[in-house]
Amino acid sequence: MSNLNRLPAKNYAYRGPIMHAFSRDDVRFLADGGLLVDAAGTIVNCDDWQAVKSLVTANGFEVVQLSPQNLLVPGFVDAHVHLPQMAVAGCQAENLLSWLETHIFAEESRFADDSYAQSVSEWFFKALLANGTTLAAVFLTSHPSASQIAFETAQRLGNRVVMGQNLMDVNAPASLLRSAPQLLAETEALCQNWHGQADGRLQYAWVPRFALTSSEALLSGIGALRQKYPDVYLHTHLSEQLTEIEAVKGQFPWAEDYTAVYERFGLLGGRTILAHGIHLSDDELTRLQGLDASLAHCPGSNFFLKSGRFRLMEVLNRQLRLGLGSDVGAGPELSLFKVMKDAQYMQADTLIPLKTLFYLATLGGAIALDQQNRLGNFEPGKEADFLILDLSAKSCLNSQKVNKQANQAKRLLSTLIYQGDDRLVEATYICGQLVYRRPIA
Ligand code: GUN
Ligand code: ZN
Repeated sequence: MSNLNRLPAKNYAYRGPIMHAFSRDDVRFLADGGLLVDAAGTIVNCDDWQAVKSLVTANGFEVVQLSPQNLLVPGFVDAHVHLPQMAVAGCQAENLLSWLETHIFAEESRFADDSYAQSVSEWFFKALLANGTTLAAVFLTSHPSASQIAFETAQRLGNRVVMGQNLMDVNAPASLLRSAPQLLAETEALCQNWHGQADGRLQYAWVPRFALTSSEALLSGIGALRQKYPDVYLHTHLSEQLTEIEAVKGQFPWAEDYTAVYERFGLLGGRTILAHGIHLSDDELTRLQGLDASLAHCPGSNFFLKSGRFRLMEVLNRQLRLGLGSDVGAGPELSLFKVMKDAQYMQADTLIPLKTLFYLATLGGAIALDQQNRLGNFEPGKEADFLILDLSAKSCLNSQKVNKQANQAKRLLSTLIYQGDDRLVEATYICGQLVYRRPIA
């Protein structure tokens, strides 16, 4: 955070319109609300201003008065994104496997150069904050040095992440492959350095890219690491495209389906994040739910690679933990506003409630990443990760036009989801600290 002035350590009360989610059908809107944050960045209270006013005075909170055009919301959670694909987002190819071969592996190979890794890491972590993403589950490359640089950069800029070195020992260019023993030693060392650092803002994940770039020795070694470090995350891809699933059948002929490959090596559990899961059978969904694994739905990416249609309502109705992911660079943009919209448009015949989309981008993502006790909404005791949005550019947000609070909340949500982008983000806070402020035009 060297490039930003840290706020002096004191208590702040943010007064203005506030919206946050408690469940997929309970999103609360306070037209004149107060978010009270103490000097340590912990939420003391969030309620109507009249209800918190006496606390503010009694405890000497400094009042930050927002304008009627502002809206205060929890920071967004990007449940699946690739740092080393920033420079090649939006490069088209026939399908997933040819896209990896044509664009992605060559770009990821460039991260052997530390100065390149440094410049993309800066770009990426600043861009997350400018888009209002306060927690992200991040894929890196297979280079330990570039991975170290990514952690250092996230720590310095104040980001909150779940991330780890990408582990590949087969079926990729030699420049990205390493032997399983070497990868396992490198990733364990990185984990020991970084897991839980920066007051828990930095969390480590074991990241086998997907089944096809993993030998059984590698998957089995990762299973052993999971036993040794039960609170470390596992993040990978699952069941994204039909050609990929066919190839998995060929490479792991003993597995009854794709999920069984990860199951066999003990990779699925409460801190497992699985990107996509588009073509899962009912039986696979049931097993994933039984194991309490999370899915990351990445609709922008699914449109771009023509991967198929995720069964969003079915997954929600089964109570699987689910977050939204930008999946940059298969997804073209980092903005969770765009991802919420794409999640709506992806469903051909079902209207997804606006509340549900907002929930998925905030509390749902926090639950998917097992961080709901720390963040996701403004419950007292949580860490204050929030955005000050500036809605002045969007005419339908003129609150004068809409009087009833319930209607106003609906209009706000509608505009955020269908018209929102990074231009709405005026300021981003993580644990009460300012980590991004929009430049003055
Ligand atoms: N499957 C394996 N690697 C990747 C990747 O980089 N992006 C996506 N979308 N799917 C993958
Ligand atoms: Zn991905």
